[in-house]
Amino acid sequence: MANQAAWLNKAGTDLEVGDAPIPTAGPGEIVVKNAAVAINPLDTHMQDTGAFVKQWPTVLGCDVAGTVHETGPDVQRFKKGDRVIGHAINLVTGRPQDGAYALYTVVPADKAAILPDSISFTDGVVVPVALEAAVCALCVKEPREAMPGISTPAPGLPYPSLDKSEPLGKTLVVYGGSSSVGSMTTQIATAIGLNVIAVSGAHNFDLSKRCGATQVIDRKDPAVIDKVVAAVEASGNEFMGIFDAISTPETYGNDAAILQKLGRGAIVVVHPPPEGVPSHVRVGLLFAVNDIATPIWNDFVTPALESGRIQCLPPPTVVGKGLEAINEGLRKCKAGVSGTKLVVEL
Ligand SMILES: NC(=O)c1ccc[n+]([C@@H]2O[C@H](COP(=O)([O-])OP(=O)(O)OC[C@H]3O[C@@H](n4cnc5c(N)ncnc54)[C@H](OP(=O)(O)O)[C@@H]3O)[C@@H](O)[C@H]2O)c1
Repeated sequence: MANQAAWLNKAGTDLEVGDAPIPTAGPGEIVVKNAAVAINPLDTHMQDTGAFVKQWPTVLGCDVAGTVHETGPDVQRFKKGDRVIGHAINLVTGRPQDGAYALYTVVPADKAAILPDSISFTDGVVVPVALEAAVCALCVKEPREAMPGISTPAPGLPYPSLDKSEPLGKTLVVYGGSSSVGSMTTQIATAIGLNVIAVSGAHNFDLSKRCGATQVIDRKDPAVIDKVVAAVEASGNEFMGIFDAISTPETYGNDAAILQKLGRGAIVVVHPPPEGVPSHVRVGLLFAVNDIATPIWNDFVTPALESGRIQCLPPPTVVGKGLEAINEGLRKCKAGVSGTKLVVEL
Protein backbone atom coordinates (compact mmCIF):
# COMPACT_ATOMS: atom_id res chain seq x y z
CA MET A 1 0.00 0.00 0.00
CA ALA A 2 1.44 3.40 -0.99
CA ASN A 3 0.12 6.90 -1.26
CA GLN A 4 0.52 9.32 -4.13
CA ALA A 5 -0.53 12.94 -4.41
CA ALA A 6 -0.81 15.53 -7.17
CA TRP A 7 1.64 18.07 -5.73
CA LEU A 8 1.63 21.80 -6.43
CA ASN A 9 5.29 22.79 -6.07
CA LYS A 10 4.98 26.43 -7.08
CA ALA A 11 2.19 28.87 -7.97
CA GLY A 12 1.35 28.98 -11.65
CA THR A 13 2.55 25.47 -12.49
CA ASP A 14 0.91 22.14 -13.28
CA LEU A 15 0.46 19.62 -10.49
CA GLU A 16 3.05 16.81 -10.40
CA VAL A 17 2.05 13.33 -9.32
CA GLY A 18 4.52 11.82 -6.85
CA ASP A 19 4.85 9.81 -3.68
CA ALA A 20 3.32 11.01 -0.44
CA PRO A 21 3.30 9.54 3.05
CA ILE A 22 0.18 7.57 3.98
CA PRO A 23 -1.54 9.92 6.41
CA THR A 24 -2.70 8.82 9.84
CA ALA A 25 -5.95 9.87 11.50
CA GLY A 26 -5.55 12.04 14.58
CA PRO A 27 -8.29 12.78 17.09
CA GLY A 28 -11.51 13.81 15.35
CA GLU A 29 -10.21 12.72 11.95
CA ILE A 30 -10.66 9.96 9.41
CA VAL A 31 -8.42 8.96 6.52
CA VAL A 32 -10.36 8.41 3.29
CA LYS A 33 -9.10 6.18 0.46
CA ASN A 34 -10.38 8.35 -2.34
CA ALA A 35 -12.45 6.92 -5.19
CA ALA A 36 -13.44 10.29 -6.69
CA VAL A 37 -12.44 13.91 -6.15
CA ALA A 38 -14.06 17.07 -7.51
CA ILE A 39 -12.52 20.21 -8.98
CA ASN A 40 -13.52 23.60 -7.55
CA PRO A 41 -12.75 27.15 -8.75
CA LEU A 42 -10.93 27.65 -5.43
CA ASP A 43 -8.38 25.04 -6.52
CA THR A 44 -7.60 26.85 -9.77
CA HIS A 45 -7.26 30.14 -7.86
CA MET A 46 -4.85 28.60 -5.37
CA GLN A 47 -2.92 26.90 -8.18
CA ASP A 48 -2.56 30.11 -10.18
CA THR A 49 -1.76 32.53 -7.38
CA GLY A 50 -0.57 30.53 -4.39
CA ALA A 51 -3.28 32.29 -2.35
CA PHE A 52 -4.00 30.65 1.03
CA VAL A 53 -1.07 28.21 0.63
CA LYS A 54 0.64 27.93 4.00
CA GLN A 55 3.22 25.23 3.25
CA TRP A 56 5.02 24.23 0.00
CA PRO A 57 4.70 21.90 -1.76
CA THR A 58 0.98 21.63 -1.20
CA VAL A 59 -1.91 19.36 -2.14
CA LEU A 60 -5.08 21.11 -3.29
CA GLY A 61 -8.66 19.87 -3.44
CA CYS A 62 -11.62 19.96 -1.04
CA ASP A 63 -14.17 17.33 -2.16
CA VAL A 64 -13.58 13.61 -1.59
CA ALA A 65 -15.63 10.44 -1.88
CA GLY A 66 -14.25 7.03 -1.02
CA THR A 67 -13.92 4.47 1.75
CA VAL A 68 -12.72 4.98 5.29
CA HIS A 69 -9.17 3.69 5.61
CA GLU A 70 -8.55 4.64 9.23
CA THR A 71 -10.41 6.37 12.05
CA GLY A 72 -8.97 8.61 14.75
CA PRO A 73 -8.87 7.26 18.31
CA ASP A 74 -12.06 9.05 19.42
CA VAL A 75 -14.10 8.69 16.23
CA GLN A 76 -17.26 6.63 16.72
CA ARG A 77 -19.38 7.53 13.68
CA PHE A 78 -17.26 5.69 11.11
CA LYS A 79 -15.42 2.40 10.74
CA LYS A 80 -12.88 1.14 8.22
CA GLY A 81 -14.53 0.36 4.91
CA ASP A 82 -17.50 2.75 5.27
CA ARG A 83 -18.43 4.57 2.05
CA VAL A 84 -18.23 8.32 2.74
CA ILE A 85 -18.12 11.79 1.29
CA GLY A 86 -16.14 14.52 3.01
CA HIS A 87 -14.94 18.12 2.96
CA ALA A 88 -11.12 18.26 3.07
CA ILE A 89 -9.83 21.48 4.62
CA ASN A 90 -6.26 22.07 3.45
CA LEU A 91 -7.47 25.65 2.87
CA VAL A 92 -7.61 26.15 6.63
CA THR A 93 -4.91 23.82 7.95
CA GLY A 94 -2.35 24.14 5.15
CA ARG A 95 -1.30 20.50 5.72
CA PRO A 96 -0.70 18.54 2.49
CA GLN A 97 -2.40 15.46 3.95
CA ASP A 98 -5.63 17.52 4.14
CA GLY A 99 -5.81 18.07 0.36
CA ALA A 100 -8.17 15.98 -1.76
CA TYR A 101 -5.83 15.44 -4.71
CA ALA A 102 -4.23 12.29 -3.36
CA LEU A 103 -5.03 8.62 -3.04
CA TYR A 104 -5.52 9.07 0.73
CA THR A 105 -6.78 12.24 2.43
CA VAL A 106 -7.39 13.26 6.04
CA VAL A 107 -10.89 14.66 6.61
CA PRO A 108 -12.38 15.93 9.88
CA ALA A 109 -14.96 13.36 11.00
CA ASP A 110 -17.39 16.24 11.55
CA LYS A 111 -17.12 17.16 7.86
CA ALA A 112 -17.93 13.68 6.53
CA ALA A 113 -21.03 11.52 6.16
CA ILE A 114 -21.89 8.00 5.07
CA LEU A 115 -22.73 7.87 1.38
CA PRO A 116 -25.79 5.68 0.78
CA ASP A 117 -25.04 2.51 -1.25
CA SER A 118 -27.45 3.67 -3.94
CA ILE A 119 -25.25 6.70 -4.76
CA SER A 120 -21.98 6.34 -6.67
CA PHE A 121 -18.79 8.01 -5.48
CA THR A 122 -18.81 10.04 -8.70
CA ASP A 123 -22.23 11.48 -7.92
CA GLY A 124 -21.63 11.90 -4.19
CA VAL A 125 -18.42 13.88 -4.56
CA VAL A 126 -20.29 16.90 -5.99
CA VAL A 127 -21.85 17.52 -2.56
CA PRO A 128 -19.33 18.35 0.24
CA VAL A 129 -17.95 21.88 -0.29
CA ALA A 130 -21.13 23.20 -1.86
CA LEU A 131 -23.15 21.82 1.03
CA GLU A 132 -20.96 23.45 3.67
CA ALA A 133 -21.03 26.72 1.69
CA ALA A 134 -24.84 26.65 1.64
CA VAL A 135 -25.10 26.03 5.37
CA CYS A 136 -22.57 28.81 6.06
CA ALA A 137 -24.54 31.20 3.86
CA LEU A 138 -27.86 30.50 5.53
CA CYS A 139 -27.52 29.17 9.08
CA VAL A 140 -24.66 31.07 10.77
CA LYS A 141 -25.96 32.96 13.81
CA GLU A 142 -22.91 34.94 14.97
CA PRO A 143 -20.98 36.78 12.23
CA ARG A 144 -17.19 36.53 12.18
CA GLU A 145 -14.70 38.74 10.40
CA ALA A 146 -14.26 37.29 6.89
CA MET A 147 -11.68 39.93 5.94
CA PRO A 148 -10.86 43.34 7.42
CA GLY A 149 -14.01 45.45 7.44
CA ILE A 150 -16.38 42.74 6.20
CA SER A 151 -18.14 40.02 8.17
CA THR A 152 -19.49 36.66 7.20
CA PRO A 153 -23.23 36.53 6.62
CA ALA A 154 -25.27 35.52 9.65
CA PRO A 155 -28.94 35.21 8.69
CA GLY A 156 -29.37 32.68 11.52
CA LEU A 157 -31.92 30.56 9.68
CA PRO A 158 -32.92 27.19 11.16
CA TYR A 159 -31.26 24.04 9.87
CA PRO A 160 -32.89 22.29 6.92
CA SER A 161 -35.51 19.73 7.76
CA LEU A 162 -35.56 16.11 6.61
CA ASP A 163 -39.34 16.34 6.21
CA LYS A 164 -41.39 18.63 4.06
CA SER A 165 -40.66 22.14 5.38
CA GLU A 166 -43.21 24.63 6.57
CA PRO A 167 -42.86 27.75 4.38
CA LEU A 168 -41.10 30.50 6.35
CA GLY A 169 -42.72 33.26 4.30
CA LYS A 170 -39.30 34.50 3.12
CA THR A 171 -37.89 34.81 -0.39
CA LEU A 172 -34.21 34.44 -1.31
CA VAL A 173 -32.74 35.21 -4.73
CA VAL A 174 -29.95 32.80 -5.71
CA TYR A 175 -27.92 34.56 -8.39
CA GLY A 176 -25.96 31.91 -10.29
CA GLY A 177 -28.48 29.19 -9.52
CA SER A 178 -26.85 26.63 -11.84
CA SER A 179 -23.42 26.85 -10.24
CA SER A 180 -22.38 24.16 -7.80
CA VAL A 181 -22.70 26.46 -4.80
CA GLY A 182 -25.89 28.03 -6.19
CA SER A 183 -27.52 24.63 -6.80
CA MET A 184 -26.81 23.40 -3.30
CA THR A 185 -27.82 26.71 -1.70
CA THR A 186 -31.12 26.46 -3.58
CA GLN A 187 -31.62 22.92 -2.26
CA ILE A 188 -30.72 23.76 1.35
CA ALA A 189 -32.73 26.99 1.32
CA THR A 190 -35.74 25.08 0.01
CA ALA A 191 -35.29 22.41 2.70
CA ILE A 192 -35.24 25.21 5.30
CA GLY A 193 -38.57 26.51 3.98
CA LEU A 194 -37.44 29.52 1.94
CA ASN A 195 -38.96 30.43 -1.41
CA VAL A 196 -36.06 30.57 -3.90
CA ILE A 197 -35.97 32.60 -7.10
CA ALA A 198 -32.94 31.55 -9.15
CA VAL A 199 -31.04 33.49 -11.82
CA SER A 200 -29.50 30.94 -14.21
CA GLY A 201 -28.64 30.34 -17.85
CA ALA A 202 -31.77 29.53 -19.87
CA HIS A 203 -30.48 26.03 -20.60
CA ASN A 204 -30.19 25.37 -16.86
CA PHE A 205 -33.74 26.26 -15.81
CA ASP A 206 -34.58 22.59 -15.23
CA LEU A 207 -31.55 22.16 -12.99
CA SER A 208 -32.56 25.10 -10.79
CA LYS A 209 -36.16 23.84 -10.65
CA ARG A 210 -34.96 20.36 -9.65
CA CYS A 211 -33.04 22.07 -6.83
CA GLY A 212 -36.30 23.64 -5.63
CA ALA A 213 -36.42 27.11 -7.19
CA THR A 214 -40.03 28.19 -7.65
CA GLN A 215 -39.07 30.60 -10.40
CA VAL A 216 -36.00 30.90 -12.63
CA ILE A 217 -34.96 34.00 -14.54
CA ASP A 218 -32.56 33.97 -17.48
CA ARG A 219 -29.30 35.59 -16.44
CA LYS A 220 -28.82 36.91 -19.98
CA ASP A 221 -32.27 38.50 -20.24
CA PRO A 222 -31.69 42.26 -20.71
CA ALA A 223 -34.57 42.80 -18.27
CA VAL A 224 -33.11 40.47 -15.62
CA ILE A 225 -33.09 43.19 -12.92
CA ASP A 226 -36.72 44.16 -13.41
CA LYS A 227 -37.80 40.52 -13.70
CA VAL A 228 -36.14 39.62 -10.41
CA VAL A 229 -37.71 42.65 -8.72
CA ALA A 230 -41.15 41.73 -10.08
CA ALA A 231 -40.78 38.09 -9.02
CA VAL A 232 -39.76 39.10 -5.49
CA GLU A 233 -42.71 41.51 -5.19
CA ALA A 234 -45.11 38.90 -6.61
CA SER A 235 -43.96 36.31 -4.07
CA GLY A 236 -45.66 38.37 -1.35
CA ASN A 237 -42.98 37.18 1.09
CA GLU A 238 -40.48 38.98 3.25
CA PHE A 239 -37.43 39.56 1.02
CA MET A 240 -34.23 38.25 2.63
CA GLY A 241 -31.82 39.29 -0.08
CA ILE A 242 -29.53 37.84 -2.75
CA PHE A 243 -27.06 35.00 -2.46
CA ASP A 244 -24.64 35.87 -5.27
CA ALA A 245 -22.78 32.64 -6.09
CA ILE A 246 -20.89 34.37 -8.92
CA SER A 247 -19.76 37.70 -7.43
CA THR A 248 -18.26 39.42 -10.46
CA PRO A 249 -18.48 43.14 -11.28
CA GLU A 250 -21.45 42.34 -13.57
CA THR A 251 -23.40 40.49 -10.90
CA TYR A 252 -22.50 43.01 -8.17
CA GLY A 253 -23.95 45.75 -10.34
CA ASN A 254 -27.15 43.79 -10.82
CA ASP A 255 -27.37 42.90 -7.13
CA ALA A 256 -27.09 46.56 -6.15
CA ALA A 257 -29.69 47.60 -8.74
CA ILE A 258 -32.15 44.91 -7.54
CA LEU A 259 -31.73 45.92 -3.89
CA GLN A 260 -32.01 49.60 -4.82
CA LYS A 261 -35.32 48.99 -6.60
CA LEU A 262 -36.68 46.83 -3.79
CA GLY A 263 -35.39 49.24 -1.16
CA ARG A 264 -34.41 46.38 1.16
CA GLY A 265 -32.46 43.13 1.51
CA ALA A 266 -28.84 42.07 1.95
CA ILE A 267 -26.34 40.34 -0.30
CA VAL A 268 -24.10 37.42 0.46
CA VAL A 269 -21.07 37.29 -1.81
CA VAL A 270 -18.50 34.58 -2.47
CA HIS A 271 -15.63 36.96 -3.32
CA PRO A 272 -14.64 40.25 -1.70
CA PRO A 273 -17.08 42.95 -2.80
CA PRO A 274 -15.93 45.94 -4.84
CA GLU A 275 -15.17 49.34 -3.30
CA GLY A 276 -18.04 51.78 -2.91
CA VAL A 277 -20.92 49.38 -2.32
CA PRO A 278 -23.98 51.63 -1.85
CA SER A 279 -24.63 52.32 1.82
CA HIS A 280 -28.12 50.77 1.66
CA VAL A 281 -26.60 47.37 0.79
CA ARG A 282 -25.62 45.06 3.65
CA VAL A 283 -22.90 42.66 2.47
CA GLY A 284 -21.66 39.41 4.00
CA LEU A 285 -18.67 37.51 2.61
CA LEU A 286 -19.06 33.74 2.68
CA PHE A 287 -16.41 31.58 4.34
CA ALA A 288 -17.34 27.97 3.74
CA VAL A 289 -15.56 26.24 6.61
CA ASN A 290 -17.48 26.53 9.86
CA ASP A 291 -18.52 24.25 12.72
CA ILE A 292 -22.08 25.44 12.14
CA ALA A 293 -22.21 22.64 9.57
CA THR A 294 -21.36 19.88 12.08
CA PRO A 295 -24.97 18.90 12.92
CA ILE A 296 -25.71 18.81 9.20
CA TRP A 297 -22.83 16.43 8.53
CA ASN A 298 -23.71 14.31 11.58
CA ASP A 299 -27.48 14.05 11.29
CA PHE A 300 -28.77 15.38 7.96
CA VAL A 301 -26.59 14.50 4.98
CA THR A 302 -26.97 10.70 4.92
CA PRO A 303 -30.75 10.50 5.45
CA ALA A 304 -31.27 13.50 3.15
CA LEU A 305 -29.31 11.78 0.37
CA GLU A 306 -31.13 8.50 1.03
CA SER A 307 -34.57 10.09 0.77
CA GLY A 308 -33.68 12.38 -2.14
CA ARG A 309 -34.27 15.45 0.04
CA ILE A 310 -30.80 16.50 -1.15
CA GLN A 311 -29.74 15.44 -4.64
CA CYS A 312 -26.22 15.24 -6.03
CA LEU A 313 -26.58 18.34 -8.20
CA PRO A 314 -25.28 19.75 -10.42
CA PRO A 315 -24.51 16.38 -12.02
CA PRO A 316 -20.85 15.37 -12.38
CA THR A 317 -18.83 15.36 -15.57
CA VAL A 318 -15.97 12.88 -15.34
CA VAL A 319 -12.79 14.44 -16.71
CA GLY A 320 -10.66 11.31 -16.49
CA LYS A 321 -9.24 8.64 -14.23
CA GLY A 322 -6.16 8.86 -12.02
CA LEU A 323 -4.37 11.75 -10.32
CA GLU A 324 -2.76 12.70 -13.67
CA ALA A 325 -6.22 13.75 -14.94
CA ILE A 326 -6.52 16.50 -12.32
CA ASN A 327 -4.46 18.97 -14.38
CA GLU A 328 -6.94 18.57 -17.22
CA GLY A 329 -9.80 19.05 -14.74
CA LEU A 330 -8.23 22.28 -13.47
CA ARG A 331 -7.84 23.56 -17.05
CA LYS A 332 -11.49 22.77 -17.83
CA CYS A 333 -12.64 24.41 -14.61
CA LYS A 334 -10.71 27.57 -15.48
CA ALA A 335 -12.30 27.60 -18.93
CA GLY A 336 -15.70 27.54 -17.20
CA VAL A 337 -18.42 24.95 -16.73
CA SER A 338 -22.18 25.13 -17.02
CA GLY A 339 -24.54 23.23 -14.75
CA THR A 340 -22.04 20.51 -13.86
CA LYS A 341 -19.20 19.71 -11.49
CA LEU A 342 -15.95 18.30 -12.82
CA VAL A 343 -14.89 15.04 -11.22
CA VAL A 344 -11.79 12.85 -11.47
CA GLU A 345 -12.17 9.17 -10.61
CA LEU A 346 -9.28 7.43 -8.90
N1 LIG B 1 -16.18 32.30 -0.26
C1 LIG B 1 -16.30 30.97 -0.16
O1 LIG B 1 -16.22 30.40 0.92
C2 LIG B 1 -16.55 30.14 -1.39
C3 LIG B 1 -16.88 28.78 -1.27
C4 LIG B 1 -17.14 28.05 -2.42
C5 LIG B 1 -17.07 28.66 -3.66
N2 LIG B 1 -16.71 29.98 -3.74
C6 LIG B 1 -16.68 30.66 -5.04
O2 LIG B 1 -18.00 30.61 -5.54
C7 LIG B 1 -17.96 30.67 -6.97
C8 LIG B 1 -18.88 29.60 -7.51
O3 LIG B 1 -18.29 28.34 -7.34
P1 LIG B 1 -18.95 27.09 -8.03
O4 LIG B 1 -18.07 25.92 -7.83
O5 LIG B 1 -20.35 27.01 -7.56
O6 LIG B 1 -18.91 27.57 -9.56
P2 LIG B 1 -19.26 26.80 -10.88
O7 LIG B 1 -20.21 25.69 -10.62
O8 LIG B 1 -18.00 26.47 -11.58
O9 LIG B 1 -20.00 27.96 -11.72
C9 LIG B 1 -20.44 27.70 -13.02
C10 LIG B 1 -21.78 28.35 -13.22
O10 LIG B 1 -21.68 29.76 -13.11
C11 LIG B 1 -22.76 30.30 -13.79
N3 LIG B 1 -22.47 31.70 -14.15
C12 LIG B 1 -21.34 32.17 -14.70
N4 LIG B 1 -21.46 33.52 -14.88
C13 LIG B 1 -22.69 33.87 -14.43
C14 LIG B 1 -23.40 35.12 -14.36
N5 LIG B 1 -22.86 36.25 -14.80
N6 LIG B 1 -24.64 35.11 -13.84
C15 LIG B 1 -25.19 33.97 -13.39
N7 LIG B 1 -24.58 32.74 -13.44
C16 LIG B 1 -23.33 32.71 -13.96
C17 LIG B 1 -22.93 29.44 -15.03
O11 LIG B 1 -24.30 29.51 -15.31
P3 LIG B 1 -25.01 29.14 -16.71
O12 LIG B 1 -24.12 28.13 -17.39
O13 LIG B 1 -26.34 28.59 -16.29
O14 LIG B 1 -25.14 30.38 -17.50
C18 LIG B 1 -22.41 28.06 -14.56
O15 LIG B 1 -23.43 27.10 -14.40
C19 LIG B 1 -16.51 30.51 -7.37
O16 LIG B 1 -15.99 31.78 -7.72
C20 LIG B 1 -15.84 30.00 -6.10
O17 LIG B 1 -14.50 30.36 -6.02
C21 LIG B 1 -16.45 30.72 -2.64
